[in-house]
Formats: sequence, C-alpha cells, structure tokens
Amino acid sequence: MKALVTGISGFVGGYLGEMLLDRNIELYGTKLEGEQVLPHINKYANIMDVDLRDKDRVYSIIEDARPDLVFHLAAQSSVAASWKRPDITMEINMGGTINLLDATRAVNPAARVLIIGSSEQYGRIRAGDVPIGEDMPQNPVNPYAVSKASQEMLGKVYADAYDMDIVMARPFNHTGPRQQPIFVIPDFAHRIALMENKTMDPVLMVGNLDAIRDFSDVRDVVEGYFCLITKGKRGEAYNIGSGKGFSIREILKKLLEMSSVDIEVVMDQNRLRPSDTPILICDNTKIKTQVGWQPRIQLDKTLSDVLEYFRQNIA
Ligand code: GDD
Repeated sequence: MKALVTGISGFVGGYLGEMLLDRNIELYGTKLEGEQVLPHINKYANIMDVDLRDKDRVYSIIEDARPDLVFHLAAQSSVAASWKRPDITMEINMGGTINLLDATRAVNPAARVLIIGSSEQYGRIRAGDVPIGEDMPQNPVNPYAVSKASQEMLGKVYADAYDMDIVMARPFNHTGPRQQPIFVIPDFAHRIALMENKTMDPVLMVGNLDAIRDFSDVRDVVEGYFCLITKGKRGEAYNIGSGKGFSIREILKKLLEMSSVDIEVVMDQNRLRPSDTPILICDNTKIKTQVGWQPRIQLDKTLSDVLEYFRQNIA
C-alpha cells in the first residue's frame, strides 16, 4: 500500500506522515522547495518538492509515486491570510486541487483521494443551527472558506462525472504541539510562554474572543482522515470535530489558568477580521456511525501540550 500526502511539511502533514509510517505504509510526500519535514519522515518517506500550482510537476510526481491513497492536505490554511491574499488562496487551494485531480485521473485513476475541506465552508449559520450536520447549507464568509467550498464541489463533480474514488473531509478547528502561532491557540500559548520567560511584557493583545469554535486534537484528526480514506463512502463529505464548542474567551481563560504569570488581556482592533464566523460546533454523528471514528483527547490536555511545547521550544 502506497500513500501520498500533499503538504507533508505542514503541521497536520507531520502527524499524518508519522501515523502512516507507524502503520508500515509506503509513504510519499510533497513539500515546497526549502521547507523542512520531521526527521523521521525525512528518513523513511520519499519527499518530493512541488508547488501544486505547477501542473506539469504535479503530473510527474503522480507518475513517479502512483499512490493507492492520496491525502490532499497542502493548502493556504489561514483564514486571516486569505483576507490579505484571496488570489493566492484560490490559486493554491482551488488551482492546486484541479491539478492534483487531473493528474490522478490521467495517470492513476483508481487511487482513493481524500480532499481536506473545512468547517469554515458552513460559515454564517442561523442561531440555533448547531451542532452543524453535513446537510447544513454552505454559506462561506471569507475567501479561505470560498476556496475550500469550491475545492470540495470540484471533488464531488469529479467523483460523479469521472467515477473517481474521492471522499471529502470537513474538519473543524484542530491544534496541537508544532502548530504555527498564526492560529489562535498556539498564538496565545506562544506569547504566554514568552511572558513566562520574561522576554515579553505580560500584556496579551487579542482579537475577537466571542467566536465559538469546536477544537479537536490534531492526533485525533489524523485518525479521522485514515478512517475516512479507508472506510468513507465515495463522493460523500464528513465532518470531523469533537461536538463541543468553547468561546475563544473560555479557551484563553483555560490557558491563563495554566500559567503562573499575571497577564493583562487587551483588545487589539488590528486582530479583528473584516468578518468572523461567529459559531462552529460539529455534529459528528456521521463519521462516528459510518466509519467508527471517536475523538479521544480532551481539550485541556491539548491546551497543556501546546503550552508545554512552546515552553520547551522558545526560539
Ligand atoms: N489567530 C488569532 N489570533 N485568532 C484570534 C485571536 C488572535 O490573537 N484573537 C481572537 N481570535 C479568533 C479569530 O478571530 C477566530 O474567530 C478564532 O480566534 C480562531 O482563529 P484561528 O485559530 O486563526 O482559526 P480559524 O477558525 O480562522 O481557522 C482554523 O480553523 C478552520 C476550521 O474551522 C484554521 O485551522 C483553518 O485552516 C481551518 O479550516
């Protein structure tokens, strides 16, 4: 069994790559030139440099790897960054997916492909419409969400029209050690660690604390991806999330309670987005019942692991 992970140099790609190696799956991974992968993955996987926007290069790596399983993780994954560069977000997320699916169809059409979307596809929902099931109409409210909704629609069209073996995931927020501090939990934890270390004044600038999100641990999410690629139904989309929502304020409170430093919290207008999805809580019934996935790691453990990671790795 051969698996290809696009974006193996990314936060989730590292966890997924390690899990696949543990299961003795022959591993191929793509990364951008100049990016690093985890040492264990570097040693045991076949790593290929490719920008998914380069159609010819994508064809050649699919020809070389001819994977049975394709986990399509590579993406511009930041909602905040998508406001600054909607063009690049669409080129990478939508254009890259077109190149990957076209190459797979031409060279390796029997491959099983998992496309990673996002709970952001649901966007602004009506109050009371939580938890969100897969049948909820999609209503993206930022460029990133548009790119992920279109990528998934393309996957569904290719599955139906070309009979390709494609499954779609809609992960809700997830975090863990090694996630870049551009996302809220590592961003807060990184700065708290800097304050504990006395390299930053104990004043934490924050954005919208009212947003409610459903956070899972990345280690649970990669298990979900494996369940979906092995057991998910062709052409179907599956939510992945814990089923529990917390406001960013509650999450910040938990992190502050884990620290001995007295930290002042200050609202920073520059951290507010032009529009922010107010509430995302997952109905995970479908993935639990159809493929047997269960979230296992509690949020408090994840938060403490992320904070400890930054304490140990303050650059
Ligand atoms: N990054 C950040 N920094 N976010 C903040 C801050 C801050 O100082 N203060 C408040 N927030 C709020 C954001 O406005 C948002 O409502 C929430 O924290 C979460 O922000 P992010 O962690 O940046 O994630 P996201 O929800 O926009 O997107 C993440 O989740 C999606 C799934 O729902 C990303 O991981 C996406 O790739 C993923 O698809």
